[in-house]
Amino acid sequence: MRDHFEVRDHDAAGRIGRLEVPRAGVTVETPALLPVVNPNVLTVEPRRLAEEFGAEMLITNSYIIRSTDRIRDRVLEEGLHDFLGFDGAIMTDSGSFQLAEYGDIDVTTEEIIEFQRRIGSDVATPVDVPTPPDVDRERAERELETTRQALADAEAAETGDMLVNAPVQGSTFPDLREEAGRHASATDLDVFPVGAMVPLLNSYRYAEVVEAVRAAKRGLDPDAPVHLFGAGHPMMLALAVAAGCDLFDSAAYALMARDGRYLTVSGTEHLEEMEYFPCSCPVCAEHTPAELREMDATEELLAEHNLHVTFEELRRVKAAIRSGNLLQLVDRRARGHPAMLDGLRTLLDHADELERTDPVSKDAFFYTSHESARRPEVRRHHDRLARLAVPERLLLTESDAPSNHDYDAVWRVKPPFGPFPRALSETYPLTAEVPERVDGAAQVAAAEGVASLAESNPEAELTLGHDDWVPRAVEAVPDRVETENLRHLGR
Ligand code: GUN
Ligand code: ZN
Repeated sequence: MRDHFEVRDHDAAGRIGRLEVPRAGVTVETPALLPVVNPNVLTVEPRRLAEEFGAEMLITNSYIIRSTDRIRDRVLEEGLHDFLGFDGAIMTDSGSFQLAEYGDIDVTTEEIIEFQRRIGSDVATPVDVPTPPDVDRERAERELETTRQALADAEAAETGDMLVNAPVQGSTFPDLREEAGRHASATDLDVFPVGAMVPLLNSYRYAEVVEAVRAAKRGLDPDAPVHLFGAGHPMMLALAVAAGCDLFDSAAYALMARDGRYLTVSGTEHLEEMEYFPCSCPVCAEHTPAELREMDATEELLAEHNLHVTFEELRRVKAAIRSGNLLQLVDRRARGHPAMLDGLRTLLDHADELERTDPVSKDAFFYTSHESARRPEVRRHHDRLARLAVPERLLLTESDAPSNHDYDAVWRVKPPFGPFPRALSETYPLTAEVPERVDGAAQVAAAEGVASLAESNPEAELTLGHDDWVPRAVEAVPDRVETENLRHLGR
């Protein structure tokens, strides 16, 4: 891996970074969304993508250019940037997607990399094999070997200052993805797309998307720029960024518009069925759905709305990373669609991995759903509890300290974190905003905090005063901790 990427800010595994693209002479801020530009059909002029939507980078397909007589010679002559009228960074794909769709293409990695260099691409792609989900392991391994060879051919090619993608494949086998990530990272290639996600994305299998991304990330260098190939629905951007993706490319804005579909942050609607627009972008502000349906330019305007809502979400994601509330945004998005909830739950299965890059301090932690109980901050607090020394006789309580007692100390208990010395009350994440009506998941997490403290202090005599916890939370408290239900004590 060469060094063209710098991470500036973290939240969970999400980050704000800067990708230097030397051939374009630009540095692109990530997370970045690369609109897919079909060289044959410019639904929205590339110049407008930059000026009106803020696209710093786009992606187009060198294989289509190469196999279309009408445009090949023009692009070779003018160069991709003049042809498209875009002076930002341009990534090109290789025809692998066509390979996956049609089973055969007539170009090698060596040839297509050379072609990409000649047309002036800034980030080129070898001919990787996008192995679909759910295939047998033998096929996934065999095709991974072909992808490895493609990466080797790309390394051997003359690329000058053009960056090169090193796609990470492996179908739905996390260990193969991880291994592929490790291998890609060890090449001298530059950007690391997680590939063959389109079938999963199209069927909203976000849990498996998250598994594939996390597996690839375990193999990749932590500082590697990661692209989620084919992803760009606004609903899942926050989730994918929180899982560690930096680049996205979206054809959805144009493909969906062609079918009369209207993107929102919680799914896709049909223009045909809409009575009101929930959006204030220029398109939605100026037209009602009925008006839009009657226009000549319905498809273009719908594509523009789709781009507005997608770039708006991307800015929201970046702001959330800066404030440290990205997981709260993911939580909000998870309430919009059950498939997203599966994605969030899967992401939180990897809270230990997220914890490694999660900042120690940020804007207040908001407890907004029982998934909040599984956030990395909770886990980190529990790990920290195992290192805290405690006095001999300690009261842990959800209520105020009793006015007279004979404990050596009285600590606060706050679900979902559990116990902590009062002196830590003003430190992140214990400043959390938690609802008055705490749920069972938060109580269970707090009980696990008590267990962590008890385990690391086997000599201490611990008493817990809890506010009428659910039975499974009380059961998660070790037997040797004496428990009192404060509600029954009238406190
Ligand atoms: N576009 C969407 N998925 C893929 C992939 O896996 N490989 C390449 N090269 N392009 C893609
Ligand atoms: Zn709109």
